[in-house]
Amino acid sequence: MNLTVTGVDRAGSRERLGRLLQYAVGNDCAVMAFNVVDPASMQGVLDAAETAQAPVVVQLSVRSARQWGVEAALACHAEASSGRVWPSVLHLDHCVDREFAERCLRAGWDSVLFDASGLAYETAVRQTAELVELAAEFGGDVEGEFEAIPRVGEAPVGGSGEDVAVGLERVNEFIGRTGVTCFSPALGTAHGAYAHQPVVDHERARAITAATAVPLVLHGGTGLDPAVMARLVDCGVRKINVSTQIKHAYVGAMASAADVADVMEPLEVLGRITAAVREVASGYCRMFGRRG
Ligand code: 13P
Repeated sequence: MNLTVTGVDRAGSRERLGRLLQYAVGNDCAVMAFNVVDPASMQGVLDAAETAQAPVVVQLSVRSARQWGVEAALACHAEASSGRVWPSVLHLDHCVDREFAERCLRAGWDSVLFDASGLAYETAVRQTAELVELAAEFGGDVEGEFEAIPRVGEAPVGGSGEDVAVGLERVNEFIGRTGVTCFSPALGTAHGAYAHQPVVDHERARAITAATAVPLVLHGGTGLDPAVMARLVDCGVRKINVSTQIKHAYVGAMASAADVADVMEPLEVLGRITAAVREVASGYCRMFGRRG
């Protein structure tokens, strides 16, 4: 399936994260990215893309990818996405293990987030650039990160012990030297459910975009005020990650099925999980994943 700036041409073959992001740039929107853990949740996200008429990123944490299996998750995505109108890519989220990221790219995953936030700056640049080169060989893309994005309630400190948000010059230099397809800056957001709305640095996003034109990735989408997200899209965010809310929908659907005495059919439970994930994901896709 091929994306054009305003529409979809179904004739092509494998999709690229870079092209989904260009679609977002051309349509003044952002591609939504949801973390899934199994076929039921993956189907919910792919169904959401069709419902909302928007491309989507299906992503797995390293833990989920290891548990599910690199080849098995890839095969499931290939089968579950086949024949759909709206394209998706299979992406590995926050991977600090370079060998595992390489394994996924070699196997045919579309993209990986190489999380270099625990590395010294020069090592982060070198290893990310090397991975970008390897990804290109296998038709894949790399999302770059070297500023740590904390969990809610954690102090935002990078692996080198420095403040998480390093100077803008360094960020721009990192993007230029590595050739990443998109970049995850520290913007004040965090992973998990917020107790209070975070203070988000829109101007930082705007400045990186102005200097590099590289699409930015927003982490910590769960619970963030949609108006704040929309403003971030105006500042150059082109991929928005939501994980915690998907997990809550998943577990909530499972728990509510277990409460219904006559639901003793696992396929019925899986159907409820898919529906719950689809509902959350399609809401975000409608808000941010398409023009207007
Ligand atoms: P949330 O879990 O806060 O939605 O963050 C998701 C994320 O950024 C995944 O990398």
